[in-house]
Amino acid sequence: MLLDQVGESGVVYGIDPSRTVIAGARRRYRHAITQGRLRLEEASMSRIPLLDNTLDSAATINTVYYIPDVELSDSLRELARVLRPGGRLVVGLGDTDYLRTLPWQEGMLLRPLTEIAEFITAAGLTITDHRRIGSSWRAFHVYIAER
Ligand SMILES: C[S@@+](CC[C@H](N)C(=O)[O-])C[C@H]1O[C@@H](n2cnc3c(N)ncnc32)[C@H](O)[C@@H]1O
Repeated sequence: MLLDQVGESGVVYGIDPSRTVIAGARRRYRHAITQGRLRLEEASMSRIPLLDNTLDSAATINTVYYIPDVELSDSLRELARVLRPGGRLVVGLGDTDYLRTLPWQEGMLLRPLTEIAEFITAAGLTITDHRRIGSSWRAFHVYIAER
């Protein structure tokens, strides 16, 4: 989806600390990597291997529940650092009440949404929108923030 969005001249960067995830993505998107349109690296959001002001936008989906408080603060500050001024961050996450009902939620950090919003704001980003994707109580949440 992101490759389609950035078009032929744009570049998508992807990071994940899991070797397995990066290896799988490298296999799946071999063609885009060869074309220089996709760069994937094994890394954590708390230490993003990019220079300041590099990205027009960034997205992190379904990740915040795996990251402890201090690391989450560092990670959102890192995302703010690599975004250009005016760049946008999208944080996607499941509804907390819904996630609490799932059998595999053990070990996940299910924070109230207001806390996620506070983490984003504390990183120096301005939340411009909070949308729900769908209308049921299980609908996904998306925060959009600007640097
Ligand atoms: C539930 S998967 C979500 C994958 C995909 N974004 C989606 O929504 O389908 C969570 C991913 O977050 C990654 N992750 C965990 N800690 C992370 C961190 N500190 N920085 C970046 N990614 C992390 C995991 O390795 C895993 O691939």
